[in-house]
Amino acid sequence: MRILIVGNGGREHALLWKLRQDAPDADFFATMPNGGMAPLCEAVAIAPSDVEALAGWAAAHRIDLTVVGPEAPLAAGIVDRFDAKGLAVFGPSKAAARIESSKAYAKDLLRNANIPTAAHKTFTNQAGAIEWVRSEGAPIVVKASGLAAGKGAVVCMTEEEAVAAIEEMMGDLRFGEAGREVVIEEFMEGEELSVFAICDGVDFVLLQASQDHKRVGEGEAGPNTGGMGAYAPVSIADEALLAEAVSEVIAPTVAAMANDGAPFKGLLYAGLMNTMDGLKVVEYNCRFGDPETQVVLPLMESSLLDLMVAVAEGDSLAGRRVTNRRGSAVTTVLASGGYPGPYVKGKEIYVPEDLESEDVLVFHAGTERRDGKLVTSGGRVLAVTAVASTFASAASASRSGAAAIDFEGAFFRADIGWRERARLEGS
Ligand code: AMP
Ligand code: GLY
Repeated sequence: MRILIVGNGGREHALLWKLRQDAPDADFFATMPNGGMAPLCEAVAIAPSDVEALAGWAAAHRIDLTVVGPEAPLAAGIVDRFDAKGLAVFGPSKAAARIESSKAYAKDLLRNANIPTAAHKTFTNQAGAIEWVRSEGAPIVVKASGLAAGKGAVVCMTEEEAVAAIEEMMGDLRFGEAGREVVIEEFMEGEELSVFAICDGVDFVLLQASQDHKRVGEGEAGPNTGGMGAYAPVSIADEALLAEAVSEVIAPTVAAMANDGAPFKGLLYAGLMNTMDGLKVVEYNCRFGDPETQVVLPLMESSLLDLMVAVAEGDSLAGRRVTNRRGSAVTTVLASGGYPGPYVKGKEIYVPEDLESEDVLVFHAGTERRDGKLVTSGGRVLAVTAVASTFASAASASRSGAAAIDFEGAFFRADIGWRERARLEGS
């Protein structure tokens, strides 16, 4: 089997790692693979966003399955393009990817299907948006409607912050076209959960629930990032809460999208808030989450490839089950000094040779091999995932793994999973 992975971040390294476990004899290809993926696959010198070139390349190279990691090619219609050429591809169509690429679309869908989420209003007019903030007061959340690399949501504790956020998005176009339309929503209080469902358009199976750490600093200080670490499973996501996630959120969403003529085939990522009034949707993504994938897949025992092939070939997932390893996984992201603001690239990275083992995995994100050396090439550079029988030992192994890796300016959060630790210590 010949498998192409589109994308080259930590998520795609984890996908490549898992699919290689599922199909050790398959041939793997990836678009511009990072320094960790490169030794595991053949490089394809086409940017993940170049949908047309990728479709041509996959057809010419007899690719049996293409797995799309990032949202941008999905939003640009890569799946529709591959479908038109009769190429098997795992991911949602352009219409279904709107669940992530247009927050306004996602919010309307949720409201029409009566799925719990923060009350909201959509604006294309700056003065109207500001007036709404003045009448609602703070705390309040301002979001660019389009794709903004995980940085387009601003949680505002004061009206002034909200007005400034609107001016930056709509006036200064800080997120480009993504900010021409903004969604302003009610502030929700609670603990967040990431729930991944592999969907065939009608049926779905859940992967292990996980929790991301979006803020750059320990104790959730500082600005939002793409994610500084994650762990799975999350003890609050017990059977009852997952049943609620399925019946109140995932099932009605999948049904509403099918009714809407945009059936969701691929990985549906529900970002949920566990509030006093039950689970509410914070956001949807149309692809695997990063860094959650780096903990969810190392725990997954059953085949991911089988599920992806079934979805890509139009087979039903009804009756399928996912099995997971017992124990916990924790991943700690190492980032470049300055991230999520400006940072310097090209720093040589030192990874101790004996760091990796069966239960300690180093997933690369912003790395590349240059003149035989491994150097940084992005804001989030690597993630160290540890799997262990208990949360505490996984967290400690992930943390010491991160501490053992070195490059100039490297930093990481030493408190990944702090909520879980507090719960376990308190019980
Ligand atoms: P998003 O880009 O929509 O995922 O938002 C990024 C982060 O902002 C989320 O993970 C939450 O931590 C926070 N956030 C977004 N919307 C809300 C909300 N309505 N209430 C509270 N926090 C939110
Ligand atoms: N972990 C957040 C995201 O992938 O969007």
